[in-house]
Order: sequence, then C-alpha cells, then structure tokens
Amino acid sequence: MGRVIAVANQKGGVGKTTTVVNLAGALAERGLRVLTVDMDAQANLTAGLGLNLADVTRSTADVLIAEQRSLSPIIVKTDFAGIDVAPATLDLASAEVELFNAMGREYALREALDDGSRDAYDYILIDCPPTLGLLTINGLVAADSVIIPVQAQYYALKGLKNLINVVRTIRSKLNRDLSILGLLPTFVDQRTVLGKEMLAEMRGYEEAPVFNTIITSTIRLGEAPITGKPITSYAPTSDAAEMYRELATEVVARAQA
Ligand SMILES: Nc1ncnc2c1ncn2[C@@H]1O[C@H](COP(=O)(O)OP(=O)(O)OP(=O)(O)O)[C@@H](O)[C@H]1O
Ligand SMILES: [Mg+2]
Repeated sequence: MGRVIAVANQKGGVGKTTTVVNLAGALAERGLRVLTVDMDAQANLTAGLGLNLADVTRSTADVLIAEQRSLSPIIVKTDFAGIDVAPATLDLASAEVELFNAMGREYALREALDDGSRDAYDYILIDCPPTLGLLTINGLVAADSVIIPVQAQYYALKGLKNLINVVRTIRSKLNRDLSILGLLPTFVDQRTVLGKEMLAEMRGYEEAPVFNTIITSTIRLGEAPITGKPITSYAPTSDAAEMYRELATEVVARAQA
C-alpha cells in the first residue's frame, strides 16, 4: 500500500509545492511510482508538473464534492515517467465552501484514495494550500505522515507551533496514525547567523525531527516552476537536484521505519 505524505504549512511561499514537485522527481528517478495530489486552488503543483490548466477538465474539486468520492477518474499522467497527478483548478476554492456542509467533510480525500488509487503507487504526495482550512485538514486526515517545510526566517517558528498543535489535534480526533515525518529547512542561507540560529531552534521539537537535508536558496529552484519540470529533469546535475535526491533517501528511510 502506498505511503501517503502531506506537505503542509499554513504560511505561504515556504516551498511546499517545490518540495512536492522535486521530491516526486527524485523518488520517480529511483523507479518508484508517485502520485501527486493538488489540494491548492492556485494549482501551482498542476502547472509545475507541466500540465496546461486550460486542458484540465476534472480536478480534485470535483472529487471532494462528489457523493461517491473516487480519485482515479481524475488522475492523469505527466511527461515524467513514474509521476502522475490529481490536478487542481480554481474551482477548488468554491469546492471547499461546498464541502463544509457535506457529511464526513474531513474524510473526503481519504475516502477518494480508498478507491484503489492508494494501492497503485509507492508514494502519494499531497500539496496543501497555505491555510489551516478544510483542504489542509483533508490532506492531513488522508496522510500517514506530514513533511513541514520551514523557511529560515524570523517568526517562522511561531506559526510552526500552531501547525504542530493542529497535527496533535488531528491525531487525537481524526487520524490516529498521523506522524510528523520531518521539518524541512528551506530557503536556508547557511552563511548567515539567522540560518544557523533557525536550524538550532527547529531542532527543539521532539516529535518533529528535522531532516538532515537542507534546501538552500538557489536561483535554479526559483526558475523551476516556469519550466514545468522537476529539477531532477530540468537541471539533473545541479546542487538543487542533489538536495532533493538526498531528501528522497531520507524520506524513504523514515517512511519505512
Ligand atoms: N530553495 C529555493 N530557492 C529559491 N527559490 C525557491 C526555493 N524554493 C522555492 N522557491 C521559489 O519560491 C516560490 C514559493 O515556493 P513554493 O511555491 O514552492 O511555496 P509554497 O509554500 O508552495 O507557496 P504557497 O503557500 O503559495 O502554496 C516559488 O516561486 C519557488 O519557485
Ligand atoms: Mg504551493
């Protein structure tokens, strides 16, 4: 059965989508079958994997509000071997509102994955939006574990405390199996004092082990969304591609443990 990993942080622009796209690239490179799920109405994941949004006819929005929730009808292949995507569209914003009044609203994505989709992949990576709303909760309820990208920046740790509390609440009320796979430091500039201080402070949460992999700020990753390719395809020999390969190694080791 596939391991389901949500990538979440209610703070915007911390590298959630970048993590999903490039971790998917690095896992697929190893011959693993990866499904990515776009739970953000911005649809950056969908575009980041090269899909033309104008061509997306069915999306996660349709799945969540359907009476019979099933993910497989909307899953499409990307141009990258081993990576499929359940795409999002702008409709997801109104779907979230509609979902609010539905029965079992927190379990919609989990239910949809139980249609056999989960068994068809080794890893399922869920890209959550920058909120702690129903879409992120659906991602966390569907997941076995969560990766939390944390931008090396002042005040980043304040929001992190809230998020860890939400994970605890979900664990006690909705998904007993949810664990924190790791905190992923992103946009790190190791030369600065801030970078070093942040890393030390992040290591203070016992239930949220920090990955050894650090994603540094690099122009290559800023360019990647425009190319619609994972960095492992777009710049396979770059340091950035190497960082995500290292992350993939850690993720596989932790997810099996
Ligand atoms: N390590 C990095 N170095 C430089 N630029 C990066 C890095 N990681 C991500 N970026 C760029 O920063 C922007 C935000 O990244 P990304 O979209 O992955 O964040 P996000 O958390 O998914 O944002 P949102 O909360 O809006 O969904 C993107 O333009 C991305 O290309
Ligand atoms: Mg995003």
